[in-house]
Amino acid sequence: MDRAAINRFFGTELLAWYKRERRDLPWRRSRDPYRIWVSEIMLQQTRVETVIPYYHRFMERFPTIGDLAAAPEPDVLKAWEGLGYYSRARNLQAAARQVVELHGGTVPRDKASVSALKGVGPYTAGAILSIAFDQPEPAVDGNVMRVLSRFYNLDDDIARPSVRGAMEDLARELIPQGEAASFNQALMELGALVCTPRSPGCLSCPVMEHCAGRLAGRERELPVKTKAKPPKPVHRLAVLIEGEGPHAGRVLVRQRSGEGLLASMWELPHVEAPNESVWASAAAASDWLAGALAAEGLSVRPIRAVADAEHVFTHLHWFVKLWSAKLADAGGAGADADGAYRWIDRREFGELAWPNVFRKLLGAYFEAPEAYSLSR
Ligand code: ADE
Repeated sequence: MDRAAINRFFGTELLAWYKRERRDLPWRRSRDPYRIWVSEIMLQQTRVETVIPYYHRFMERFPTIGDLAAAPEPDVLKAWEGLGYYSRARNLQAAARQVVELHGGTVPRDKASVSALKGVGPYTAGAILSIAFDQPEPAVDGNVMRVLSRFYNLDDDIARPSVRGAMEDLARELIPQGEAASFNQALMELGALVCTPRSPGCLSCPVMEHCAGRLAGRERELPVKTKAKPPKPVHRLAVLIEGEGPHAGRVLVRQRSGEGLLASMWELPHVEAPNESVWASAAAASDWLAGALAAEGLSVRPIRAVADAEHVFTHLHWFVKLWSAKLADAGGAGADADGAYRWIDRREFGELAWPNVFRKLLGAYFEAPEAYSLSR
């Protein structure tokens, strides 16, 4: 078979398979571009099973683009809490506001306008244009590159940004006339269900017969993908400060800045330790913690380490050790003076948006505060 015939085979067989095997996913029950857009943003770096409950809650809370555009940002962050990569949520809301301001609240149908929306890269633009509007645009992510690398036995390193363009050209060429929505989802579905990263299920694959990677016995070697560096370990010391007097029953927390990692989310006051041994040694950690927080305007007397938690980000691995502590000067220093600090109770803990590590630590505390009691 020549290349054109192979391409037709791929399109026809994949579509027939998708029509039989497609999963009934909530965002597949609608052609509403807003719903498809939200689902595609949530699905970036996140598994389908994780996304489903978030998707339902988000759609109930923000049923239209207008609702999302008009919502207070903390509500949007709270709805995203636990999904990670929070800039996705902030960008999504900023883009909803763009749609309201520039396009009267209707998702535009042309590639330039969709691509100009905040947080919408080539993959998401292609997904929205094809799935919602059936336009013959490719939607190429890592899964699609894996499928294509195997089917065509390609050795290009898919970690290289330049390879994506070539993959997009190939994927565009493959879209059967009038079938962009189904075809692009079929490619994603094959990558998710059959052509999986570690043990591809070639025997149930609808295009195995002409899969060049499989025919060469290379399905497990492909795609070529240079490894990303492992996340850098970072050791952090946090403090749990219980309020007294008018603040009894509350804990001192603060809001992160509006820029950068975990922007605008809430956290326990904490500092980075200079290295793991200071972090792990009670005497050294206590001194470091008191000194570094004092430099930020918060004078504390650390008492004892009470809990550990960790979180892996794309480039960082946080190890957080939580210390119970007392405020050293009753005025509370930054605690009252600086607007970023706040005393919160259990109810407010439930309302604010927290990075996973702090939600875990504070959730455990509010479940059983007596276990953290400073008088012990
Ligand atoms: N991954 C990315 N987009 C997807 C979709 N629309 N359905 C299932 N998995 C996906």
